[in-house]
Amino acid sequence: MLNLVLFGPPGAGKGTQSKQLIDTYQLIHCSTGDLLRSEIANETELGQRAKSIMDRGELVPDEVVVGMIDSMLDRHADARGFIFDGFPRTTAQAEALDQLLASRNESISGMIALEVADDELKNRLLERGKISGRPDDANPEIIENRIRVYNDQTAPVKSYYAQQQKLFEVDGMGTIAAITARLEQTIEGLI
Ligand code: AP5
Ligand code: MG
Repeated sequence: MLNLVLFGPPGAGKGTQSKQLIDTYQLIHCSTGDLLRSEIANETELGQRAKSIMDRGELVPDEVVVGMIDSMLDRHADARGFIFDGFPRTTAQAEALDQLLASRNESISGMIALEVADDELKNRLLERGKISGRPDDANPEIIENRIRVYNDQTAPVKSYYAQQQKLFEVDGMGTIAAITARLEQTIEGLI
């Protein structure tokens, strides 16, 4: 299996690039943000608990997202591989993911981290906020908070994969197509 962590700050292009890569490599897209937003849209109990946390740009508790990934892996037991987008976001989540995969005799092939300048992140998210309806895109202070939460709680996850020699950093600035080409080049090295 090809199991990739597509990593990066809010607005780095994880969702945009995942869409291209799942087609090219026949992988399952596993975005905890998308899964949580669908829980909110369906007004489930989990969604109701997650909504106020997400609207502030804070992280939902580890056990909630780890549980969602566990059932996603079960639902797609015959997949050729997964792209994890927006997960893991804490070192505890990264450890849990390794355990979930190990219990299925699988492992992470690599983490690809998209590197994008802060000003560009803010511009992309504010721009999307005009049309997306995502409450966490609507307000510059919430966007700042998401970037702060990323720097404090999520960026350290890179070291977790660096220690396993699984970290690959890719320039996330430029056109969507140019970035896809860089990602594909990195992935070819992992196959
Ligand atoms: P999540 O949904 O994961 O959001 P995020 O990571 O904060 O950011 P985005 O999804 O907005 O960015 P992206 O990197 O996918 O960029 P995109 O391709 O969309 O998480 C939302 C919330 O859910 C979290 O804050 C948290 O509360 C909760 N959550 C989720 N996972 C969790 C976890 N594991 N643990 C705890 N809590 C969790 O692109 C952004 C915009 O830029 C788009 O408009 C796009 O069209 C545009 N764009 C993309 N590429 C380019 C380019 N090259 N040039 C110009 N524009 C571009
Ligand atoms: Mg996304």
